[in-house]
Amino acid sequence: MTEKEVDMATELLQFLELNERVNSISYAKTKNLEHQKIVGLIKSLQVHEGVIDASQKTDKNWVLSTEGKKLESSGSYEFNIFKRVPADGIAQSELVKDKNDKIGFSKAMSNRWIKVDKSGGAPKIFVADGVNPTDIVRDNLSRIKQGSPIPDKDRAELKKRKLVEEVTIKSFDVTKGEKFTTKIEKAATDLTAQMIQDGSWKTTTFKDYNYSAMGIKPSAGHLHPLLKVRSVYRQIFLEMGFTEMPTNNYVESSFWNFDALFQPQQHPARDAHDTFFISDPAECDTFPADYAEKVKRVHSEGGFGSQGYCYDWKYSEAKKNLLRTHTTAVSARMLYKLAKEGFKPSKYFSIDRVFRNESLDATHLAEFHQVEGVVADYSVTLGDLMGVLQAFFHKLGITKLRFKPAYNPYTEPSMEIFSYHEGLKKWVEVGNSGIFRPEMLLPMGLPEDVNVIAWGLSLERPTMIKYGIDNIRDLVGHKINLQMVQDNPVCRMDF
Ligand code: PHE
Repeated sequence: MTEKEVDMATELLQFLELNERVNSISYAKTKNLEHQKIVGLIKSLQVHEGVIDASQKTDKNWVLSTEGKKLESSGSYEFNIFKRVPADGIAQSELVKDKNDKIGFSKAMSNRWIKVDKSGGAPKIFVADGVNPTDIVRDNLSRIKQGSPIPDKDRAELKKRKLVEEVTIKSFDVTKGEKFTTKIEKAATDLTAQMIQDGSWKTTTFKDYNYSAMGIKPSAGHLHPLLKVRSVYRQIFLEMGFTEMPTNNYVESSFWNFDALFQPQQHPARDAHDTFFISDPAECDTFPADYAEKVKRVHSEGGFGSQGYCYDWKYSEAKKNLLRTHTTAVSARMLYKLAKEGFKPSKYFSIDRVFRNESLDATHLAEFHQVEGVVADYSVTLGDLMGVLQAFFHKLGITKLRFKPAYNPYTEPSMEIFSYHEGLKKWVEVGNSGIFRPEMLLPMGLPEDVNVIAWGLSLERPTMIKYGIDNIRDLVGHKINLQMVQDNPVCRMDF
């Protein structure tokens, strides 16, 4: 209890000392305080054992409705109608103008306070002979307002007219307890060094521990929605037996990002308009020279059954450093490593950041996260790719899939993946996929009968759909609301 509450409670106890019994409602009325406040005081007094006995009681009480209150202050409709009838009468059309006049008129008629004379054509209203009515309705409403009784019949009538209503009121009856006192002290919450030194702890009343009180929320870290969705994807890949690829290099050579993927050096994606090139260091030459030689050959002259692109492939172009535009650069590194170390069927995945020189808008930033899956095995087919994609998306809760032929320099055939979005009621593109070309795989040294199927999608898109975010700037970047990160629930995929 606060100091003020202790004062108020003491006052209540002093009142109780002089009275046998105190009812919370009447006490609230005498003190001109809110009833709820008094109930609060009684409850905190109950904590002091034996000081008071309080029993709850339920009363039914009649109170005025809004309309009842209006009539209580300005008089009943029928009495007001009666008052407006002059000694020489008034035309009915002039007397009765609105809905309330109508009610008043018919009540005044049935009370026989007024009478109609139709002898002159239009009905004219006169005061009935020898009446001198009082406004009983208003008097009754006043009595109810004061809590005084009125005849049952009258009250039933007022209820029917919706001028009064019955409410249930819960209150407390308070009597003195066996350890009644008017002196309550504020219980101490902490044992202090002072109390121990001066011995006052022996007589101090301590507040009981409330073991069911809610504790203070510990402050903790929160996963950003993208990371929550990432963990779901990761889990699915792991369940399907995929191994995570090391994607911790944002800076990549053009060689691994493009050349190894059989993407010609004059391809528009290799333009500075689409790709961020690095100026310092601008170049690197750490890629294997013998393999680079094979890549050069397949681009410029062809081989492995392909005629190549027939152009002058340049080392200088392959050496250019850039921010990787897709995680497929990492897949290429992994497949090369796999060929080098001796091929065995493998399944890889990665979920990490990629960068593109895009014009920014509500759904595009210059960087996003790519989710990528790669399966390398003997004689894998397009049917396998569709099957793996079905299984993968099924685990995400996406069951309706459609494939559309597409083009990637490094896959043939290539397919865009569409899923039917139940919320948006339309087919939305969810990814891109394909079978890596022999021009990419054979120079790496992979066996001829090995095929590699792969697919990629963005992490941001499903996250925005999942969390109902329609502007990417509310999800990523310096303008995001940190509260959004804290409040958003754990991700469950149930598209
Ligand atoms: N690299 C592709 C992209 O950036 C995705 C992809 C990965 C497509 C693997 C086919 C195979 O969109």
